[in-house]
Amino acid sequence: MTALTLSTAAAPGLRADAIVVGVAKDTASTSGGLVVAPGAEAVDKAYDGRLAGVLKTLGASGGEGEVTKLPAPAGFKAPLVLAVGLGALPAEGGSFSAETLRRAAGAAARSLSGVKKAAFALPIADAADAGALGEGALLGAYAFEAYKENGKDAKNGKAPVAEIALLGTKPRDKAYKAAVERATAVSEELNRARDLVNTPPNDLNPESFAAVAQAAAKEHGIKVQVLDEKALAKGGYGGILGVGAGSASAPRLVKLSYTSSKAKKHLAFVGKGITYDSGGISLKPAGHNETMKCDMAGAAAVFAAVVTAARLGLEVDVTGWLALAENMPSGSATRPGDVLRMYSGKTVEVLNTDAEGRLVLADALAKASEEQPDAIVDVATLTGAMMLALGNRTFGVMSNDDAFRASLHEAAGEVGEDSWPMPLPDHLRKGMDSPTADIANMGERYGGGLVAGLFLKEFVGEGITWAHLDIAGPAFNEQGPFGYTPKGGTGSAVRTLVRLAEVTAAGDLG
Ligand code: BES
Ligand code: MN
Ligand code: ZN
Repeated sequence: MTALTLSTAAAPGLRADAIVVGVAKDTASTSGGLVVAPGAEAVDKAYDGRLAGVLKTLGASGGEGEVTKLPAPAGFKAPLVLAVGLGALPAEGGSFSAETLRRAAGAAARSLSGVKKAAFALPIADAADAGALGEGALLGAYAFEAYKENGKDAKNGKAPVAEIALLGTKPRDKAYKAAVERATAVSEELNRARDLVNTPPNDLNPESFAAVAQAAAKEHGIKVQVLDEKALAKGGYGGILGVGAGSASAPRLVKLSYTSSKAKKHLAFVGKGITYDSGGISLKPAGHNETMKCDMAGAAAVFAAVVTAARLGLEVDVTGWLALAENMPSGSATRPGDVLRMYSGKTVEVLNTDAEGRLVLADALAKASEEQPDAIVDVATLTGAMMLALGNRTFGVMSNDDAFRASLHEAAGEVGEDSWPMPLPDHLRKGMDSPTADIANMGERYGGGLVAGLFLKEFVGEGITWAHLDIAGPAFNEQGPFGYTPKGGTGSAVRTLVRLAEVTAAGDLG
């Protein structure tokens, strides 16, 4: 992956292949013009103070994510200057938001593929800004090339930028060093989650996913336990087994335990890990299954968050539960009409085998509850209904505790993830009444995302604070890349979970 460094060096004498500067819209100015953002003073000076004018001539507007390339001024070691748009210049005395910096760095990093070393002469007021730029750059530089013939894109000069130096920063300053360390850990693990989501389902099944988790746990001193199909049968995990019954790849439940000797709180994260969702006997029609390798994005996010917590040594205990199964139709598959006896003891009438995520999560939530954690958060690509409600960049947050739901929405906002609080209206429970079992896995069509949330709620242990993140929309980007978000797996919810762990470790939660 791209290496991130801090540097006090000034742009002109720097040995690099490209210098990145920021350009903003100065809406307040009478000229209605373009301004070069702080951090690029030396570069501007080398253009005799005419950089903004030159960029304007080239058609730059300063809009967010806009990239303009121009030859570096005489005397520069780097041949190329890349100007990235930051949007509106903040009002007098204000500064660019962390998310603006993250997105601009991401857009710049994406345009730098093929470049070996880039230097960012972007606005950095403090260590937090350096962290935001670093994170945006590392996330933007992501590429999934495992399945390209001999790294085809890399051969065509499109390899991700190899090194990024943040200019005007203090390499020996503790706060700056910590910010870069955090950005690196979060981005590397988040990119690993993206890799898992992008890996085709013929190569990523419950068993191979569990093996990846085992290897990472070993590397980072995380305790790991894998329940295979035999152990799941012995333990009575009817939900996970029922969903995996049709597949040639048997299901798994992976438990990852990161513990800190200084922990005062314990968080449990539960991830939906359907390595492929065909719908099962309630088979999805063509047009609905092409992207269903992404249905393990929740488990990938949980996995990445636990590893990141360990790498950062956060002072909180974090247990990750990955509920892994492949949802396939076959002679041994669960049928619509079957009743499953779940881990909690409750029975579920399966009316639609495509509502499988809630079944694997129900078992994992019930199991996670046994340890009486201070809070449980599950993450799942759970419903198409949530996409209809919130679109494809925003995840829904549901909870049995209004304050906790607000905390998650806030944590997401702090790290630049779009989320929105959603209700769990009691009256929707009735639609899941079953004449045969304790509950059915389907209810009313309207409000399908909330119905799924209400189903999960029934499997959370009595008195335990719980929240549910439905990331069906933002987990997988089918459109073009933007900011630091690539096409394909996005790593949705990783940063929100890490932020929640940080806030909890700091004692700022409950
Ligand atoms: N994995 C899907 C939800 C999904 C849809 C995620 C599109 C990402 C993109 C889930 O298992 C599913 O099939 N849900 C059904 C539930 C229904 C049968 C009650 C849905 O949303 O249609
Ligand atoms: Mn499904
Ligand atoms: Zn699914």
